[in-house]
Amino acid sequence: MTLLVTGGAGFIGSNFVLDWLAAPDTGAEPVVTLDALTYAGNRENLASLDGDARHTFVHGDICDRPLVDRLLAQHRPRAIVHFAAESHVDRSIHGPGAFISTNVEGTFTLLEAARAHWSTLPEPERAAFRFHHVSTDEVYGSLGPSDPAFNETHPYQPNSPYSASKAASNHLVRAWHHTYGLPVTTSNCSNNYGAWHFPEKLIPLMIVNALAGKPLPVYGDGQQVRDWLYVGGHCSAIRAVLARGRVDELYNVGGWNEKPNLEIVHTICRLLDEMQPDPAASDAGCVHIPRLLGSLKPKDLPEFKYDADAFRSIHLTDAERHGQRSDHRPVRPEDGVRQGTQGRCEVRSGRCRAHRRRQEGWPPRD
Ligand SMILES: NC(=O)c1ccc[n+]([C@@H]2O[C@H](COP(=O)([O-])OP(=O)(O)OC[C@H]3O[C@@H](n4cnc5c(N)ncnc54)[C@H](O)[C@@H]3O)[C@@H](O)[C@H]2O)c1
Repeated sequence: MTLLVTGGAGFIGSNFVLDWLAAPDTGAEPVVTLDALTYAGNRENLASLDGDARHTFVHGDICDRPLVDRLLAQHRPRAIVHFAAESHVDRSIHGPGAFISTNVEGTFTLLEAARAHWSTLPEPERAAFRFHHVSTDEVYGSLGPSDPAFNETHPYQPNSPYSASKAASNHLVRAWHHTYGLPVTTSNCSNNYGAWHFPEKLIPLMIVNALAGKPLPVYGDGQQVRDWLYVGGHCSAIRAVLARGRVDELYNVGGWNEKPNLEIVHTICRLLDEMQPDPAASDAGCVHIPRLLGSLKPKDLPEFKYDADAFRSIHLTDAERHGQRSDHRPVRPEDGVRQGTQGRCEVRSGRCRAHRRRQEGWPPRD
């Protein structure tokens, strides 16, 4: 059998494809990746699979119904794992159109194609088929400091065009089950971090800037709390949902790692001091933390009218409940950030592809 993964050249999707094909229990099952390669998609994330007969990469758009129909007829996947999306909140505020097009219309196109394909399947393939939709805890809105964590029954209160488009896609997925019987599952996860994270997001941006000696931009006082989920943990949670998830169930995936942004930045700087000490520094090579304190730069809050408080609110998911359901266990934040920081240091020291260097703004190597 085969898996069709949309958005598999992006941050989480590429980690999922690589994990899937590396895991002993799933690695024999081929993957077809469908990705439009927007600014966020990177074919190089999957370069290690070049020549691997288990992986097929298709450059295309989820809104292209004839293409999706063709792929479903040709590969007859037993599941679709839907990551493809416009995913950056700030971009959604400046240009919401692409978010409606990909996140809402694209999900609709995919659901319709999946429904047509699924309805032709003979039993038991029909019963075993799954459409897994990857979504976000931002559909729930934000919490005050004393509010209990989100759980799966929390009402949807999206605050940005991004989260509204994801909430809309969640509703479509649910409705395609209740109306047509399509076997769907959905997961709402918190902030992921880890390998291949695009450096417009907090953790990779801080590492890249700290290594380059650039200012470290943080919103306001840096005290906004987020739940941080290591991407490898998220991938294993999705594998668990595919293997054991109940149809029509919604799974929150959290990391049990609620941290203020500033604490995350401090952790990165501490790790950089450990991994990349400056030989010229007099005090045991510790340069990043002093530089951090001198270079924290308030990031301008967006000029547009937007609920700026959302940036300051606690943003948690009911990770414990999820853990009971899927055996997902979180990675310690220090370990996850250590891995990410190590990866960026390797980029810097040249043990990584030239193209990644370009993407991250490093000068070409001699
Ligand atoms: N990154 C996070 O912290 C986070 C948190 C919660 C939920 N999510 C959700 O997880 C999913 C993956 O997120 P990510 O961070 O990997 O996103 P990403 O932006 O890194 O990757 C998205 C991928 O989708 C592809 N894509 C975009 N539009 C497409 C289209 N029309 N057709 C085909 N491919 C298209 C892009 O080329 C890219 O490869 C998204 O649905 C996102 O909403 C992400």
